[in-house]
Amino acid sequence: MILNTELEYKGNLFPSRIISYKKDLDTLYFTSVNNVVLQVTIQRDSVLRFRYTTASIFEKDFSYSITKYASKGFNHLEIKEDDEYYIITTSKLICKISKVDMRKSIFDAKDTSLIYEDELGFHWEESYEVGGDIVKMSVKSQESECYYGLGDKPVENNLKGKRFQNWVTDSFAYDRDTDPIYKAIPFYIGLHHQKSYGIFFDNTFRSHFDFCHERRNITSFWAEGGEMNYYFIYGPEMSDVVSNYTDLTGRPQHIPPLWALGFHQCKWSYYPESKVKEIANKFRELKIPCDAIYLDIDYMDGFRCFTWNKDHFPNPKKMVKELSDDGFKTIAIIDPGIKIDHEYAVFKEGLEKNYFCKRADGPYMKGKVWPGECYFPDFTNPEVREWWSNLFKELVEEIGVKGVWNDMNEPAVMDVPGKSFPDDVRHNYEGIHCSHRKAHNVYGMQMARATYQGLKKFSYPKRPFVITRAAYSGTQRYTSSWTGDNIASWDHLAIANLQTQRMCMSGFSFIGSDIGGFTEQPNGELFARWIQLGVFHPFCRVHSSGDHGDQEPWVFGTSITNIVRKFIEIRYQLLPYLYTAFWRYAGEGIPILKSLVLFDQEDSHTHYRNDEFIFGEKILICPIIEQNAKGRRMYFPQGRWYNFWDRTVVVGGEEKWVDADIDSMPIFVKEGAIIPKYPVQQFVGEKTIDQLELDVYFKKGNESSEVYEDAHDGYDYKKGRYSLRNFKQVGKKNSLTIQQFKSGKYKTSYDTFKIIIHGLPFKIDRVEVDNEEIDISKLNGDVTFIVSKEFTELHIIGKK
Ligand code: GLC
Repeated sequence: MILNTELEYKGNLFPSRIISYKKDLDTLYFTSVNNVVLQVTIQRDSVLRFRYTTASIFEKDFSYSITKYASKGFNHLEIKEDDEYYIITTSKLICKISKVDMRKSIFDAKDTSLIYEDELGFHWEESYEVGGDIVKMSVKSQESECYYGLGDKPVENNLKGKRFQNWVTDSFAYDRDTDPIYKAIPFYIGLHHQKSYGIFFDNTFRSHFDFCHERRNITSFWAEGGEMNYYFIYGPEMSDVVSNYTDLTGRPQHIPPLWALGFHQCKWSYYPESKVKEIANKFRELKIPCDAIYLDIDYMDGFRCFTWNKDHFPNPKKMVKELSDDGFKTIAIIDPGIKIDHEYAVFKEGLEKNYFCKRADGPYMKGKVWPGECYFPDFTNPEVREWWSNLFKELVEEIGVKGVWNDMNEPAVMDVPGKSFPDDVRHNYEGIHCSHRKAHNVYGMQMARATYQGLKKFSYPKRPFVITRAAYSGTQRYTSSWTGDNIASWDHLAIANLQTQRMCMSGFSFIGSDIGGFTEQPNGELFARWIQLGVFHPFCRVHSSGDHGDQEPWVFGTSITNIVRKFIEIRYQLLPYLYTAFWRYAGEGIPILKSLVLFDQEDSHTHYRNDEFIFGEKILICPIIEQNAKGRRMYFPQGRWYNFWDRTVVVGGEEKWVDADIDSMPIFVKEGAIIPKYPVQQFVGEKTIDQLELDVYFKKGNESSEVYEDAHDGYDYKKGRYSLRNFKQVGKKNSLTIQQFKSGKYKTSYDTFKIIIHGLPFKIDRVEVDNEEIDISKLNGDVTFIVSKEFTELHIIGKK
């Protein structure tokens, strides 16, 4: 007789009393009576890693998201114990671990204020069906604590009161509050008492976050497998939290080529070749700047990746070359599903080399996507990634495609309940073989990584450009991204604003939305408002599903076309400013868009703001997200702000009405800013920049601004061939001084600056550049003059 022994459900389990403690350089191990081990690694003075095992032995320590370049090392480490606690002190933090139950609390080392405190702390449930544990952590929410981050969640900035899960999901026409959608970024920021910290829960299984939703004062996070493994990242400045998070999970490996920051036009799909050219020509004819045009799935032969439909595109190389001669870079889509077709080379090779994912008992993972039934490469296998990267040789090196768009890489599977692989699918996972439960969230990331490797190889000596839909923490190292299949609605315009801010705050700044909406059709007003917002997003692309009519800048009538042109021209003028913000992001992880809370966390008015954000360091944007609006109320952060359009000054710290008819949008510049501008170009490189315009916004007091430039492509900048200019503005009642500090070996194409001074509060007596007096002129009330780009000090002296 076979007996069916039921396993006992034990409920939540907890670590018991700590009985031993061991130190190994920067890592401490605490073991409890019931064999739970807590490993604490002092990553940096402000970054602690907590890792728990309930099996007394840890799994192999491996993470797709933590980069090998992550900083390590601390200035100070002291470990003490008393009757109740082990106390770890660094120069920034004090962490107390209770001997009775392993619960932790963390304090600011300077003023000993409490930052973070376990409630139940680590606990777990045994998982009968699949083995291992459901690992859980609960934390006390501090007084007035707010929460931010978590990737692409389509909700208000502050996450308090909400619950989310992280499971990368194809979410066609998602809506406000749909959860989860395309990305899994298990990183959040807590803010209370003006201090902020971050939690990065580096666990790729399906994970959940509850921000005081289930219980009013408790925040918790848990995952359906794997280890409780998380990093505590202290600020107290929020921008430091984000920057330290990207120090761990990586920053873009290079600055994008400047053209990638231009305007991109996309549709599902432009074909045949004559259509692509017609669209491109129309941009040039109407003088609407555009740098990139996209080929969606219909360029392929029966949706087979790395093939061309020769009826529609008889000579792709010639077409790509002609487009390129006219300044257009061609971007082609590549999905993960490989059509089951024994005549198709990519399929045959993948099959022969055993590169496709398999089900638990051996059959291939078969799923339907655009090409019909497909197999899917296992991108968690380094050998598969290498193979995949080499598949781009022809497309990039031979045909001349400049960028690749990875889509459907959640991985999306059609006509199945979970819209993806079943849990039992096996993955290589860098040799630590596992099921899809663990690999799902990183599948798209590893595909984008392999694509990036290919593009990098075959675009050399130029920089690669990749865009992905699915992502896990760390994907920002390889690629840009967009927010997936949104809808042409006013609410989605607001959602796009939230998602892009949130992605930037979550370490992933190269982000934008499908401008105008992917499904359904916007009217001219909505399209214009979306363009106005979209030109201030790091990635700027119009895309639509195409089955609801056209969505090019000229289809809504001349007045809308003119507005669209005007705003795209502003983006092109601001390219050196955006490029500088990108350089800062790639170097230091500073988000390109800053939600107001990130800009000024000490001002509690910012904690619940959603619409306004800072573009780069100095430009305040507030999109119009309502129909028929002639303006709106918006919050101005502390300080003084110049209206971009008429240079009038607004004093911040309160909400104010701003006029913004359909051809305008609230744009303000921080006083003291020096904003670099290029002339309008139809595409990057159309013109040789023979003068850099510097818009100076007078401030009484000091302010610094930077301009970073290099060859705008290639890697010479990594060898010091860049030009960094730091401008220090000192404004006084009767004078203005601008000092320039230069570094880098790159020689810019221009020799002079055209300086335009806004808001000068005094009448000019004379202007001296490096102690020599120069001529000035007046333009629309602003003072304008030309100076050598080599100046070190410029002095404007007022009349007595
Ligand atoms: C997915 C993508 C969309 C693309 C379409 C066809 O829906 O999100 O951007 O146009 O597939 O490839």
